[in-house]
Amino acid sequence: MSIQATLPPLLRAGFLLTGLMAGAAWAATAPSPDGELIPADEATSTAAMVSAIRDMVQSGFDADGHAVRDAHRKAHGCVQSTFTVLDKLPPALAQGLFATPRAYHAVIRFSNGSGQSQDDHKGDARGMAVKVMGVAGQKLLDDEQSAGTQDFLMMNSPVFFIRNAGDYVVFQKAMTGGGLSAAGWLAGHLFHETAVLLAIQGRKVVNPLASQYWSTTPSKLGSQQMKFSAKPCAGSAFYTASDTKDRLGDNLTGQLASGGACFDFMVQTRAKPATMPIEDPTIEWKEKESPFVPVARITIGAQVPEQGEACEVRSFTPWHAIAEHRPLGGISRVRKDVYLEISKLRHQLNGQPRIEP
Ligand code: HEM
Repeated sequence: MSIQATLPPLLRAGFLLTGLMAGAAWAATAPSPDGELIPADEATSTAAMVSAIRDMVQSGFDADGHAVRDAHRKAHGCVQSTFTVLDKLPPALAQGLFATPRAYHAVIRFSNGSGQSQDDHKGDARGMAVKVMGVAGQKLLDDEQSAGTQDFLMMNSPVFFIRNAGDYVVFQKAMTGGGLSAAGWLAGHLFHETAVLLAIQGRKVVNPLASQYWSTTPSKLGSQQMKFSAKPCAGSAFYTASDTKDRLGDNLTGQLASGGACFDFMVQTRAKPATMPIEDPTIEWKEKESPFVPVARITIGAQVPEQGEACEVRSFTPWHAIAEHRPLGGISRVRKDVYLEISKLRHQLNGQPRIEP
């Protein structure tokens, strides 16, 4: 598939932020206790990103009369599940949501990464967005502080392919500059970012229930930092009969028609800060330095997955979170305003109320 088609929204926008972030000065001289180091001009950059993505959603609405997500546009379905926090977790992991063993209702949206609703045979990232309901405690978004949701957004790669907002802008400029400049960026980043991008696009997934998913970006785990991941439970079997352009949704529906599915939800603590950066999600936190440890189990019973607006009307963001799980790092700081503003605009254009349960 074309790289352009799978790019996150900013990279297709054709707007230029070069210089806003490149060679950025830092707002502080040393990282925070969580390892965050914020560029001084991040707020300016974020505002420009939000503006560009809003323009894209608006122009899609102007063309189609319906506003859609500008990334992870194609849903394979939303499913109902139970998110059960495990009993007897070690104190270091029994933090925030994981402090008390109990079962929560959770909704999961499985998606492709692209901003286009394209054939599932095309190489693309795959997303798993989990919304845990009925979670007590004040939430981080100013106008949704009393919401009951803790979201966990994941994709089927342990690493993202862009380090930070500044690099994102450079990449975008290269991709919108035409074939030669795109090829130049890819060649110049061949052994790191390009390799991550190609690996993401090369992963073959025929049933979204069969893939492992990772946060790629870190969050807090109480006073520590973590990444998280959902992995199909050992011994799971997967329905793979469909090979249509919508095979991921077909196989999800086929599997849940008569059976269920199960994921181990795991966290990985930042045991070695020197090799586990907060501000660079292209660097994998190696499992040999800190393994992923199960803290919850996600069970999905037999059901008919929600399709269409019942699924699309939901809003997922890493910032639907309690303070103990605050997202960390520049890519997630940028996502705070991006996801909120895009969700508000989508709902406003479609005449739908925004209801966060
Ligand atoms: C600066 C980088 C990023 C930007 C600008 C961005 C942008 C977006 C946007 C605009 C949406 C649609 C939101 C909506 O309409 O409600 C979205 C959805 C999503 N993003 Fe990102 N994203 C970024 C990085 C990431 C990363 C690192 C991950 C890794 C887990 C990720 C995972 C997802 C998932 C799973 C969804 C679908 C959520 C759903 O099902 O509603 N994104 N992203």
